[in-house]
Amino acid sequence: MSFRGKDVLSILDFTRNDLERLFRIASSKFEGDELKGKVVALAFFEPSTRTRLSFETATLRLGGGYIGFDAVQGTSIAKGETFSDTVRMLDAYADAIIVRHSLEGAAKLAAELAEAPVINAGDGSKRHPTQAMIDLYTVWREKKGIDNLVYGVLGDLRYGRASGSFLRALNLYSPKKVYLIAPESLRPKEELLDTLKMPWEFSNLEEVLPELDVLYVTRIQKERFPDPAEYERVRGSYRIDAALLLKNAKEDMIILHPLPRVDEIALDVDSTPHALYFKQAAYGVPIRMALLREVVP
Ligand code: NCD
Repeated sequence: MSFRGKDVLSILDFTRNDLERLFRIASSKFEGDELKGKVVALAFFEPSTRTRLSFETATLRLGGGYIGFDAVQGTSIAKGETFSDTVRMLDAYADAIIVRHSLEGAAKLAAELAEAPVINAGDGSKRHPTQAMIDLYTVWREKKGIDNLVYGVLGDLRYGRASGSFLRALNLYSPKKVYLIAPESLRPKEELLDTLKMPWEFSNLEEVLPELDVLYVTRIQKERFPDPAEYERVRGSYRIDAALLLKNAKEDMIILHPLPRVDEIALDVDSTPHALYFKQAAYGVPIRMALLREVVP
């Protein structure tokens, strides 16, 4: 299916075939000037390092230009301008709009207002489709496929949109098993659990580590906790280090993390062959290049 001019709001807007096509484009080391003369708007209402900079890089590498902001200070939103008016203006200036926001549904609202395609760069605690593409692409490349693997998803599965999007995305595939590993209060919401089609169970890391092919780790999403005291109760409650992996993990088990990492992966893991998270972050550029090439009219 063609994605030209279409909004990218959820990973479930894509089929396996669509993703496979993106993965092939991303891995073909293509270069091009498909965005020559085009302008991409980056509307980042919430902090970001990788997502924003890799979208910028992808745009530049395809010969395009970008405008935008990475904080509301410095824009008229600080004067009281609404989200809707801001989106309308970006729509008048740009050929595509990339939105990051703390509120769920912000990207969808932008898509309803704008003629230009809107790409969700993470809104609220549920959706982050382009991150899910990068995550799947990393598994696809490193494990030569996504089906029939045993996955562990560790961390804040309640407020994390990256882990949630990854789990939803796995519904498009046939994992052998998914272990959800989280402190009790950070277990996924029922609405997410209800959507999972693969065999899954709650477990703890030490027990399942020897079985895992892929371990997806996330930080605790401090900024999304309604109650700071609850954050204090769970902070530091899980941590992976090289000794644990050496003792328990399969040699070819890979660790993914959307980053930023806080303290959940010790620095000594970085030099082990399990650490794929920096490579995963680097894959953000070819994946977003492939996506922009497909979407921008
Ligand atoms: C994630 C996000 O913003 O949801 N970061 C990212 O885009 N790579 C994960 C996080 O903030 O923990």
